[in-house]
Amino acid sequence: MLRNMMAACLVLGISSPVLAADVTYRKDIAPLFKAKCGYCHGAESPYLGDFNENKAKFEADSLGPRMDSYADLIFYVGWPDTGALMRRLDDGKNAGGKAGNMYKRLGSSEEERQKNLALFKEWVGPDAWNLNRWKAKGDVPAITKEQVDKIKVKY
Ligand code: HEC
Repeated sequence: MLRNMMAACLVLGISSPVLAADVTYRKDIAPLFKAKCGYCHGAESPYLGDFNENKAKFEADSLGPRMDSYADLIFYVGWPDTGALMRRLDDGKNAGGKAGNMYKRLGSSEEERQKNLALFKEWVGPDAWNLNRWKAKGDVPAITKEQVDKIKVKY
C-alpha cells in the first residue's frame, strides 16, 4: 500500500514529507545513479580538480567528474560545488525555462525523466531544490543558511 502510494506520488510529481523521509542514497539514489550517470561519472572518471585541469581531454572521452559515492555526490549538492546537481538536473521549471544539460540523462522518455527528477528532488529535500551557488553569480544570489538548512540528502 505504502509502495503504491509512493509510486503514485512519484508519477504525479507530488512531494510529501512522508515520502522525503523514505528516499535514501543507499536505496534509491545509488542504483539510479549507477544506471543513468555512472557510465560517465564513475570509477573511470577523474575527481573534479583533475577534471578541471584536463577538461577538454576528459570531455572528449565522455567523462565527467567522478561522483559515484555518497560523499562524492553530496559535494555537488551542498558544498563546495553548491547546487551543481540541481542546476544540471533541473527541467527548466526552476530556471526560467532552460533545462540543465544533465536533465536528458535522467531517462529516455519525458515520463521517466520526470519520475527520476522527482526522486532526486525528494532526496535533496522538500523545498531544498535551489539553483544558487555558494557565491552570487550575475543576478543569482548566493545560497543562504536557511536554504542550506533544508538540504536532507539522507544516506
Ligand atoms: C554520456 C556521459 C554523461 C552522462 C550519462 C551523465 N553525465 Fe554528467 N557530465 C558529463 C560531462 C562530460 C560533464 C562535464 C561537462 C559539463 O560540464 O557539461 C558532466 C557534468 C556534470 C555535472 C557538473 C559537474 C561540475 O563540474 O560541477 C553534474 C552535477 C552532472 N554531470 C551530473 C550528472 C548526473 C546526476 C547524471 C545522471 C542523471 C549525469 N551527470 C549523467 C557527462 C555525463
